[in-house]
Amino acid sequence: MIALITGASSGIGEATARRLAQEPGAQLVLVARREDRLQALAAQLGGDVLVLAEDLTDEGAGARIADAVRARHGRLDLLVNNAGAGWRGRFADGGTTNLRQTLELNLFAQAALTEALLPLLRESAPSAIVNVASTSGRVARAGAGAYSASKFGLIGWSDALHLEEGPHGVHVGIVNPGFVATEGFPQAELVAKATTRWMVSTPEKVAAAIVQTGPGGKAERYVPRPYALAAIARILLPGLTRKVLGGDGATALATTTVDNRPGPATDA
Ligand SMILES: NC(=O)c1ccc[n+]([C@@H]2O[C@H](COP(=O)([O-])OP(=O)(O)OC[C@H]3O[C@@H](n4cnc5c(N)ncnc54)[C@H](OP(=O)(O)O)[C@@H]3O)[C@@H](O)[C@H]2O)c1
Repeated sequence: MIALITGASSGIGEATARRLAQEPGAQLVLVARREDRLQALAAQLGGDVLVLAEDLTDEGAGARIADAVRARHGRLDLLVNNAGAGWRGRFADGGTTNLRQTLELNLFAQAALTEALLPLLRESAPSAIVNVASTSGRVARAGAGAYSASKFGLIGWSDALHLEEGPHGVHVGIVNPGFVATEGFPQAELVAKATTRWMVSTPEKVAAAIVQTGPGGKAERYVPRPYALAAIARILLPGLTRKVLGGDGATALATTTVDNRPGPATDA
């Protein structure tokens, strides 16, 4: 199995690379910007690992990655679109600058890479794409509007792609993590309190869901599974959901899913 994982230099992507490396005959392609981190992981994993250091928001990144995978392997069995980030901020502060930056990475970069690799995925069918979205792609909270917009968009696009590519032998699945402690999303407020620590999951659990969704053929997985209830509540009980998310108890949640790395949006 030839598997390409974006955002493999930390968190969920790194855990997914470690998990997929255990599959018989796995040959991995690791993508992210920090080449040193990818090379260190490749050295730990051993075997046939191709490292491609790319900024996925660069215009030509998709084409360069597709050329490299075709040249090295001539096929692709699994694409894991995992790279992503969020920048905290209410719309009144971050505005369209934050919205544009977030959609650029979390939606358009995924679509651009998929567009470049789709011919190879079709040629390699049966093959699979897993898009790592978020529970925030089903339920929005204050302070994370740009992030939610990007993940709502990613899920909508993925649902359509699932229907379009199934007949071509390319399975498209979605994984929606809840709160997962990683470098970019430390979930510090939740981890700090015994009363909320239980809500935080691990990158390894998301990696297992990615395997179930890609090679395993599932259409959608929440991690942990009960987070699906939030999506159901948003549709069936919208008033109650807004009330809960708008209350005092929502303050911590509003600030924990989205990281605070510097970027144009937070500087705006
Ligand atoms: N952790 C959570 O609570 C949570 C919840 C729901 C969904 N998610 C989603 O899960 C995915 C992985 O997040 P994570 O929690 O594992 O965060 P993370 O540890 O910060 O990992 C993000 C990865 O994306 C890569 N990346 C960021 N910008 C990039 C760019 N322009 N070009 C190429 N690669 C880029 C980063 O690598 P470089 O910096 O080396 O480029 C890194 O490997 C994201 O899509 C996130 O939205 C996370």
